[in-house]
Amino acid sequence: MPKRKPNIAGEIEMTEVVLPNDANPLGNMLGGRVMHLIDMAGAIAAHRHARSLLATVSVDSVDFVYPIRVGQLVILRAHVTRVFHTSVEVAVKVYMEDFLTGERRQTSSAFVTYVALDPDGRPKPIPPFVPRGAPARREFDEALERRRHRLAVAARTHRLYFEKTRRK
Ligand SMILES: CC(C)(COP(=O)(O)OP(=O)(O)OC[C@H]1O[C@@H](n2cnc3c(N)ncnc32)[C@H](O)[C@@H]1OP(=O)(O)O)[C@@H](O)C(=O)NCCC(=O)NCCS
Repeated sequence: MPKRKPNIAGEIEMTEVVLPNDANPLGNMLGGRVMHLIDMAGAIAAHRHARSLLATVSVDSVDFVYPIRVGQLVILRAHVTRVFHTSVEVAVKVYMEDFLTGERRQTSSAFVTYVALDPDGRPKPIPPFVPRGAPARREFDEALERRRHRLAVAARTHRLYFEKTRRK
């Protein structure tokens, strides 16, 4: 499969060492800490493209497929996949790397959506994003279907939530 061409205006890589404070009693990195880093990495990639204040509006499902242990590296790669109008979708992949063995494997991935905000907190347009190369164009095309699905899920979930709270 051809490699996705880097588009440095909307992508980043960040690396941290997993410390005991990031982990559960088994020495595995906490899921909440991984989610925080996913949000941070995604936001930095989105900021790089949008050059604007942003708010996280949605995170698609996150699975933890493989543990990251204390002392290992957690590496996050994030890149913009598509800009809609005021929102931008970012793909974030999480990897662990072992210092001693050099083993590296992907542990999680997520799509995060951010909304650009003006200084009054109102959504504002984001400059268009032009995908470069076939893999990026495929992700760009697929982003439309992901957005349709997440907006439908959000509409259903929010309707249920607000109907329930109104009945109380
Ligand atoms: C972000 C926020 C301002 C959007 O408000 P809103 O009334 O939904 O605004 P709009 O309906 O105009 O939607 C703005 C954009 O968000 C998108 N959006 C809204 N809800 C979404 C969801 N659940 N998933 C994905 N995109 C969503 C819309 O599709 C629209 O994108 P587009 O302009 O590219 O088509 C509001 O939801 C908010 O303040 N949320 C809290 C954000 C926050 O505190 N995040 C955590 C800290 S960063």
